[in-house]
Amino acid sequence: MTVRIAPSVLAADIGRLAEQVAAAEAGGAEWIHVDVMDGHFVPNLSFGAPMIRALRKITKLPLDVHLMVEHPEQYLDDYAAAGANGFTFHPEATTHVQRHLARARDLGMRAGLALNPSTSPSVLVEVAADLDLVLVMTVNPGFGGQSYLAGATAKIARVREVMRDAGINASLEVDGGITTATIAAAHGAGADTFVVGTAVFGEPDIAEAVRGLKRACLTRV
Ligand code: DX5
Ligand code: ZN
Repeated sequence: MTVRIAPSVLAADIGRLAEQVAAAEAGGAEWIHVDVMDGHFVPNLSFGAPMIRALRKITKLPLDVHLMVEHPEQYLDDYAAAGANGFTFHPEATTHVQRHLARARDLGMRAGLALNPSTSPSVLVEVAADLDLVLVMTVNPGFGGQSYLAGATAKIARVREVMRDAGINASLEVDGGITTATIAAAHGAGADTFVVGTAVFGEPDIAEAVRGLKRACLTRV
C-alpha cells in the first residue's frame, strides 16, 4: 500500500519556512499539510490564505489544506486561487457537505472530509462518490505535539472498512501524534497518507526524519 508523508507546517519554524519545506521535500515528503484554524471550531488560531500563497511560491509539492474552521465553504474560492491542491473540511462544521465537496472538485482541488475522534465514519456513506480523501483525526484537533489516541488504530480500521463497503475510492490520511512509534500501526490498519508535524519539523535533521518515518511504516507490527 502507498506510503505518503505530509509534513504539517504548523510545526515548522515560520522564519525558516522555505529552508524547512525544502528539507522535507529532500527527505521524500509527497505533500505539504496546511492546518488552518479559526479559534472557534478549535481553540487555536493558525493561518489562512497568505500561508497558502507563500507556500505556493516555495514548493511544487501538493498543498494539502486542512480546515479546522466553522463554515469552511466561505474559503473555497479564495484557497483555490491561492494555490491549494486539497481542501479537507470537517462535516461537524457545516451543513451542506455534498455541495461543498462538489465545489472543491469544480475548483480543481481534491475534496476531503476530516473526522474528529468522536465522529462516526457513517457520515462518509452518503457522499461516497464525492470524496477524494478521508482524514481520520488521531488526536483532538487544534494543536500539534499531542499523543496518538488509544482508540485511533481501531478507528482507522473501521473507517477503512466503511470505505471499502461503500466503494469509496479515496486516500485514507491520518493526522495527529504520528511518529516512528505509531506510524506502522496506523498503516497496518489501512492508512496510506500520514500527516506529521512535530516528528518532522521538530527534528534536527528534517530530511532524515521523513526517511525514518517511511522506514518505520514498513516495519512489521
Ligand atoms: C492538529 C493538526 C495536525 C497537527 C499534527 O489539529 O490537524 O495536523 O499539526 O501535528 P503532530 O504531528 O505534531 O501531532
Ligand atoms: Zn491537520
